[in-house]
Amino acid sequence: GFSWKLPDHPKLPKGRTVAVVVLDGWGEAEPDQYNCIHVADTPATDSLRKGAPDKWRLIKAHGTAVGLPSDDDMGNSEVGHNALGAGRIYAQGAKLVDLALASGKIYEGEGFKYIKECFEIGTLHLVGLLSDGGVHSRLDQLQLLIKGAAEHGAKRIRVHILTDGRDVLDGSSVGFVEALENDLAKLREKGVDAQIASGGGRMYVTMDRYENDWNVIKRGWDAHVLGEAPHKFRTAVEAVKKLRAEPNASDQYLPPFVIVDENGEAVGPIVDGDAVVTFNFRADRMVMLAKALEYDNFDKFDRVRFPKIHYAGMLQYDGELKLPSHYLVSPPEIERTSGEYLVHNGIRTFACSETVKFGHVTFFWNGNRSGYFNPELEEYVEIPSDIGIPFNVRPKMKAAEIAEKARDAILNRKFDQVRVNLPNGDMVGHTGDIQATIVGCKAADEAVKIILDAVDQVGGIYVVTADHGNAEDMVKRNKSGQPLVDKNGNIQILTSHTLRPVPIAIGGPGLAPGVRFRGDLAEAGLANVAATVINLHGFEAPSDYEPTLIEIVE
Ligand code: 3PG
Ligand code: CO
Repeated sequence: GFSWKLPDHPKLPKGRTVAVVVLDGWGEAEPDQYNCIHVADTPATDSLRKGAPDKWRLIKAHGTAVGLPSDDDMGNSEVGHNALGAGRIYAQGAKLVDLALASGKIYEGEGFKYIKECFEIGTLHLVGLLSDGGVHSRLDQLQLLIKGAAEHGAKRIRVHILTDGRDVLDGSSVGFVEALENDLAKLREKGVDAQIASGGGRMYVTMDRYENDWNVIKRGWDAHVLGEAPHKFRTAVEAVKKLRAEPNASDQYLPPFVIVDENGEAVGPIVDGDAVVTFNFRADRMVMLAKALEYDNFDKFDRVRFPKIHYAGMLQYDGELKLPSHYLVSPPEIERTSGEYLVHNGIRTFACSETVKFGHVTFFWNGNRSGYFNPELEEYVEIPSDIGIPFNVRPKMKAAEIAEKARDAILNRKFDQVRVNLPNGDMVGHTGDIQATIVGCKAADEAVKIILDAVDQVGGIYVVTADHGNAEDMVKRNKSGQPLVDKNGNIQILTSHTLRPVPIAIGGPGLAPGVRFRGDLAEAGLANVAATVINLHGFEAPSDYEPTLIEIVE
């Protein structure tokens, strides 16, 4: 029968502290001026690189290697940390939604039937990120869902859009809104009353995560549910164009807006009897809105009205909270993660990041599951992120504080695994500010140094890796790799992640002699890391995990 007990590793000892460092948004690319990791002063990670090929190598962090639909899909933190923690490759939300839409199964599921109950008298509202980034949502999936909902009887549809500019180029929002407007116009010709009703920039409206700033959700609530916002327009194309023309405007941070009719009335507030679908498949930035839409008891902000609606998520976002309780597509069944195994085998675990990445090394790492497996053996520490200050203004973020917490957790010897996420490469990289990203990369490298020094002091082992690329390439390139310039000769800044591989390094005084990276796993990816870490704790990995990256030469 099944047992949580892991076999002892035949050659590797137990009892060594293992530090697992995830550099967020830290890929490997050609050294040039748009590679912020290369330009930054990064002595700690540079010295790890000298261990190649035995102690430093590259692993895949994008596309099918992390369960995304195709190898044109860049990596992201959700699928990256899922793979790192779970040790297996799961077909992820993006892919599962594609399949459910293609087969039509999405319309046969409990979730769709539940929202369909409102189609006769109520409005169907769709809320989510409007882009083809493929990280949280995809425009083509929204388009299919709208079409399918209309075919299944939705007579009145309102879409509440969050503009992107973070997983896609800044400025691309206008094109996505035009594409959606075009579809909705066609539906209107067929007699479906379909319109965009409200919106705003994803980083300012609705899509906060890990309870960093509830004001973000409140702005979204006011616009989407109450139909109230400081900016009112007759069409969404006009809204996005006008708001983007303001000084320092960007797609990510557009203010909230509502679309109004000729009398100035909001065209689509959410009211009793309506159906609501949040069409993002990715969890982290929909959980807060899901709580506001679903929970009777809610004290994070004054909802003013709490409409009686039928609400479904594209997926269920939190398997532990069972949130939302209705959903259109079942999420990947990520189970038996390395964290759960290790806790069952007595490994005491410490995990830490700052708020904006805290759930990455806990919730995502544990297979989209909130909370502890065993609070006796685990401690998760969240350093509060600065609120309301753009990350390029404080590019060092909380890297030093995270490293100091990790250092203390290593030196006090209360933990066997000390796991952190250092956010700088990613969070500053997403701002598109190259100078700030260079500063951020340096800060992350200094944090690595603090942790490696602590590992040295206790005779421990380190594993330093990353979840996907971002800061190593800050410019959009053509097929031959040359930076793309616009008609004014300015380079096109890449705010998004990349398709690049990421480094992984192992070492430390506790690493048993003869341990090195195998030479036979050229295609290895993030999912191979879990077995590796389990081995370094002195156990054999479960047999269905992706193979370990290491071998032991006598
Ligand atoms: C975000 O949510 O910030 C971006 O869309 C993706 O970034 P992450 O995958 O690094 O969190
Ligand atoms: Co990112």
